[in-house]
Formats: sequence, structure tokens, C-alpha cells
Amino acid sequence: MARIIGGIATSHIPSIGKAIARGLQNDPYWKDFFDGFKPVHRWLDEMRPDVAVVIYNDHGLNFFLDKMPTFAIGAAAEYRNTDEGWGLPVSAPFPGYPEFSWHLIESLIADEFDMTTCQEMLVDHAFTVPMALLWPGMSGANASPTGRSHQEKPYRPIKTVPISVNTVQLPLPTPARCFKLGQAIGRAVASFEGDLRVVIVGTGGLSHQLDGTRAGFINKKFDQLCLDKILHDPEFLTRYSIADLIRESGAQGVELLMWLAMRGAIGGEVSAIHSSYHIPISNTASAVVLLESKTGQRVVEKSLPLFV
Ligand code: DHB
Ligand code: FE
Repeated sequence: MARIIGGIATSHIPSIGKAIARGLQNDPYWKDFFDGFKPVHRWLDEMRPDVAVVIYNDHGLNFFLDKMPTFAIGAAAEYRNTDEGWGLPVSAPFPGYPEFSWHLIESLIADEFDMTTCQEMLVDHAFTVPMALLWPGMSGANASPTGRSHQEKPYRPIKTVPISVNTVQLPLPTPARCFKLGQAIGRAVASFEGDLRVVIVGTGGLSHQLDGTRAGFINKKFDQLCLDKILHDPEFLTRYSIADLIRESGAQGVELLMWLAMRGAIGGEVSAIHSSYHIPISNTASAVVLLESKTGQRVVEKSLPLFV
């Protein structure tokens, strides 16, 4: 049976990808931010997930205003990135896992989440930057600043299933709906018969607004409320409307939706293994949270010093 071994929520700001490509991890602007990922790297090294289900929001690379699915899921053997104009190196392709994707799709649709299924799906910075952050050394290896990396053989330690949530064109799905999507993803993973260790990644946030009169808006108080509630009382956040979220956390702060979906997939009570908050990175209050279920899905291996 497949098991969710943990959940990670992280910001996906494009400039992080640039900093990785330029090796700026110890630069004074970046050091504290990147140091916040070290405990997550140790956990990933110990826990060795086989597959990452990455819940992210496409920003107009794969879907545009003419066709905008509320929820979409990849069912491809690999996922390519291409130039979005942020000045990032184009990532090497990410391996997919079609058999697992189709299981998730069948389960989600039977569970009344009518996903758009994508046998081709370009993944944008909201997918590639978290992958580069969480599995460092892998994404840069084949990425070339000229964007010609697709011909090269990809080398990545983990298979992926991308799930995209519309945050581009109103109406957006509600926080409550995204939390329920996460719960359905949790049920879908648990019913897969293969022996898989799954990590759920939710990307985006925290507070930020990139345009309009409130450009540069950050709300530390609200972010801290979210960091607390996402762990101990996610239902509290599901009572917000999209308009509430935009007011409190900025137009792009709605990316909290992906954190809620991740949290729904973990379900029940959780332990925070690690949490780090850093303002600002670019225009955004950045954060990373790593959590595990208290109630059960985790596989404890006696050989793992971190957890015995
Ligand atoms: C920034 C943040 C984002 O979430 C994004 O998608 C693009 C840019 C930023 O702060 O620069
Ligand atoms: Fe974003």
C-alpha cells in the first residue's frame, strides 16, 4: 500500500531558482533562507520518498485564460519546463509516474473531483523551484541557461505527479474546496496497491502581491496565523473566502490554497518537524513547513536516528 510519509509546504519564488543557478546559497541576502531548508534535506535523505505529489499553481505557462481548469493533474511519463521569462535556467525534464497518476485520477473522479487530465503538461516555476530547493544538486545538474537542456538525459531521484490549482482567473476554488481536494488525494494515495513512500508538496505563498496599488504587500501577522493554523487547526483557514484571503495576504497570497490542499492530504493531527519563515524574498514572505501525521501513515524505521 502507498503511504504518505509527510507533507512539505514551500514558497516558489522565481528568484530562488536564479540564486540556485548562480550558487548564491551563502550570499548574505540568501543564507538564512537556504539554511531554513537544511532540516528538510536531512529528513528527505532519511525518509527517501519514492514519489512527490506536487500541488502547485500554474502561472500561465501550461494553461492560459482561454482554457483554465480549476484542478488539473498530470498523467505523463515526464514533465518539461520551458522559459517563462523570469531569466531562470530551463530545468531538465522531471520523471512522471503514469500508473500512479492514473490511479489518483480514477480515485479522485470517483470521489467527485472532476480533474482535467493532462498527458502533456509543462511545469512552471511553481513546480521547478520547489523541486530544485528540496532536491538540490539534481535540478541544476542538467539545466542549462540556454534552455537546451531537454536533449540531455534527466537525472532525478524522485518521480513526480503535478497537480495544478487555478489561481490565475476568477472564480478560484475556495479554501474549503482545496482542503477537500487534499483529503481526496490522501484517500487516493492510500488505496494504491504498490508499496510506495509518498511525499505531498504544496507550493506558493505566503503573503505577497505583485501588482496594483498594494504591490509589495506583506502581512506578517496573518502569515504567522496561517503557519499556526495550517498545523493545528486547518479548518479555521477553510472558513476564509477568496476575497478574505486576498485582503489579508495579497492577490498572490491566495497561494495558501496549495498549502491547504497539502494539509488536507495529510489529515488528522500532525507534528511539525520543521518550520522556517523569512521576509522578504523578492516581493514575498517566504516560508517552508515540514510535517508528519501523528496518527499513523508514517513508516518508522528503527535505523533512522532522527526519529527513534
Ligand atoms: C514572486 C512570487 C511568486 O509566487 C511568483 O509566482 C512570482 C514572483 C516574487 O515575489 O517575485
Ligand atoms: Fe506564485
